[in-house]
Amino acid sequence: MKPSLLSFGLVLGLIMSTQPGCSSPKKQTFAGDPGQIQRPAGPAGRPPPQSQPAQSGPTVRRLNEPSSMPSVPPSGARLTYNSIKTDQKVLAMTFDDGPHPSNTPRLLKILRDRNIKATFYLVGKNAKAYPSIVRQMVAEGHEIGNHTWTHGSLTSMSDEQIRRELTMSSDAVFEAAGYRPQTIRPPYGAINQRVKELMFSEFGYPTIMWSVDPQDWRKPGVAVVTSRIVTASHPGAILLAHDIHAPTIDAMPGTFDQLLAKGYRFVTVSQLMNIEKTSPPLGALTTPVTVAGANPAPLQP
Ligand code: NI
Repeated sequence: MKPSLLSFGLVLGLIMSTQPGCSSPKKQTFAGDPGQIQRPAGPAGRPPPQSQPAQSGPTVRRLNEPSSMPSVPPSGARLTYNSIKTDQKVLAMTFDDGPHPSNTPRLLKILRDRNIKATFYLVGKNAKAYPSIVRQMVAEGHEIGNHTWTHGSLTSMSDEQIRRELTMSSDAVFEAAGYRPQTIRPPYGAINQRVKELMFSEFGYPTIMWSVDPQDWRKPGVAVVTSRIVTASHPGAILLAHDIHAPTIDAMPGTFDQLLAKGYRFVTVSQLMNIEKTSPPLGALTTPVTVAGANPAPLQP
């Protein structure tokens, strides 16, 4: 980012943090005065499991009932996740590279209107530039993951560089919202065994990839982004998008509404991991059922 752009962003961030509702587009409002958002009181800076703002609005909200699953990864989490195996119609929507000073608040409103909880993989330097947006994410029950400090490729960094990138990014989120990321998404999806194991053993981070990628950063058009996500979604999917691009935000209302209409429920990444941990094996659900009085069905080979 160029210095002049950075300065502009900082000034804009300052304006937004002091004047709720003063942002693009018009009529957009924050959930509340950022200065009044309560810091999470959970252990180790984790957010309370059901941090929910006062809500009002469309009936579509009922379609995504809040999950009682915890918003932290389960013990015994796997090293890498692209999706989970489940027959439940659950999806984890993830947004990378923010916060962005105008696109991210617009997205948060879209999520709030549908009671959808998402997971944001924040670039540390952006979190430091827009702390009020980070606070708003946590206050509204979203999960935040680590996406490094500079958005560099982890596989080309030394162990020491990786430690610095992850620590600086985690610290920026903690300073903004009293919350520490619990998972990592590697920029560009660049990952190898050395990096995964370092991040897991030293930071406790499972590596979170994705199973649905609409390539929204190429800006293929709103309808294309929606159709790619809706068509490719499957139970247990992790969906990838980027909240720094305005057309991606434009695509989200239609995307969410179509997926909700198909019976999908949105959970955060950690909630998805917990669903896998607590679900019975898929095979256990396909055992033939014998109807009383009928001849016993032969066992399937
Ligand atoms: Ni990224």
